[in-house]
Amino acid sequence: MKFQVTSRKAETIKTEGLTLFHFEGESLAGPVKGLDKILDGKISKAVKSGVFEGKQGQILLIDSLGKAPAEKILVAGLGKKDSVTLEIIRRISGISAKAFRDAGVKNFVTALALADVKGAHTGQLAQGAVEGTSLSLYSFDQFKSEKQKKKIESVTIVSTGAASEPDMAKRVRKGATLSENACRARDLINLPSNIATPTYLANEAKKAAKELGIKCAVFGPKEIEKNKMGGLMAVARGSYEPARFIIMEWMKGPKSQKPIILVGKGLTFDTGGISIKPADRMEEMKSDMSGGAAVICAMRAIAELKIKANVVGLVPSTENMPGGSAVKPGDVATGLSGVTMEIINTDAEGRLILSDALAYAKRYNPDCVVDIATLTGACAVALGGFASGLFGTDEELVGQLKESGEATGERLWPMPLWPEYEDQIRSEVADIKNVGPRWGGAITAAAFLKKHVAGKWAHIDIAGTAYISDKPRSYIPFGGVGLGVRLFVDFIERRLGL
Ligand code: BES
Ligand code: ZN
Ligand code: ZN
Repeated sequence: MKFQVTSRKAETIKTEGLTLFHFEGESLAGPVKGLDKILDGKISKAVKSGVFEGKQGQILLIDSLGKAPAEKILVAGLGKKDSVTLEIIRRISGISAKAFRDAGVKNFVTALALADVKGAHTGQLAQGAVEGTSLSLYSFDQFKSEKQKKKIESVTIVSTGAASEPDMAKRVRKGATLSENACRARDLINLPSNIATPTYLANEAKKAAKELGIKCAVFGPKEIEKNKMGGLMAVARGSYEPARFIIMEWMKGPKSQKPIILVGKGLTFDTGGISIKPADRMEEMKSDMSGGAAVICAMRAIAELKIKANVVGLVPSTENMPGGSAVKPGDVATGLSGVTMEIINTDAEGRLILSDALAYAKRYNPDCVVDIATLTGACAVALGGFASGLFGTDEELVGQLKESGEATGERLWPMPLWPEYEDQIRSEVADIKNVGPRWGGAITAAAFLKKHVAGKWAHIDIAGTAYISDKPRSYIPFGGVGLGVRLFVDFIERRLGL
């Protein structure tokens, strides 16, 4: 799909489809008003009769029957003017793009004549519209004999308002790059675990590195052992698939600037191990590498956008299987940090593999470390599917991440990390144990990670948000969400003031 920008008047462009926006309860404005006249009042009549009120997500699709240069005109409702946000623009752009696709339109123009959306300028709105469009049209059909036949080929954004055409073009390119990489993350998540193995993830990282000038190293089982990554080794024991530890370095910022480290859980399939999971919906555990996919694809996006920053991505990757040599409840592992860990439940494996990556991060003398992981069902219970859990040791860092969550629509919600929770993972036989009591499971998991960290650190639990298996949303189809890519790029720019 191609995105482009034009500063021509929307009403005058010859096109298969034209998207216009309308606020609920306001009079027709801008290009909507102009087109209403050309179409003999069709839009205003629909508003008057209550057929189309402009409620959020409502759509009015009109065939212009040769009266206007655009063949089909789609008016999308934005809801009440004062409640419209950048996220709503993403969502409505997604809904309209899908409507045009389903109507067989291949090329369309979007008239973003929206000067007054709270807290967002025209360039951001254009970027948001591109993100919503691109993300909503994603489909994963590589294993289907019958492919999605209807495809949008090009989208043209009309440049209006304060931003100049080149500024708009830059924003549009950025939106496209971010969404493409979020969709790559979705592919990695949606691929079954017999294909998306730790080796596959590592090869994806290497491919991206070669293509985009990222430095990349991959440890196999031997190097993992040599590096004393005891948590990763313990989890990998039960699986035939060899483990990988993926390192991606993008050091294009000032030499004196300490790097930001991103850590992602790359568990390519979580059976639970010897503490095996129930069969019901276990197939969804192919998504247990969503954090790893986010980190690999965020690194890609950072390189494609040539962001002047020092960023390192670390992804510990393995399966969690109940093989004959699998780790067993009661076993003790020594992590790279030197902390000894009693493994009470082999299904609490994410914290074991992350602990080594967090300890490894110290070698970079980092500015801060942020990890992202499908870590606990408890976090999904606490927050449902509309926010990821956010933990951390530094208020400023947590605050910046929360702001990025707000800005990208990938919302994060702060959770506590008081010392009482750390007491709950003290072990009788080792330094710590890998599970606490039943309640507060997302927090004791975070407390476990904290034991392996030095300096500023934050943890994002995406167990409830990484994968959609019930109802698809405006710009998020069934399956992998690709969460974290847009979030991390925004966070890095925010933290470094870029
Ligand atoms: N990968 C799971 C967490 C998860 C659950 C992700 C649901 C996505 C959806 C994790 O490894 C796990 O199994 N956690 C256990 C921890 C427990 C044994 C302390 C859990 O949450 O049940
Ligand atoms: Zn598990
Ligand atoms: Zn897991």
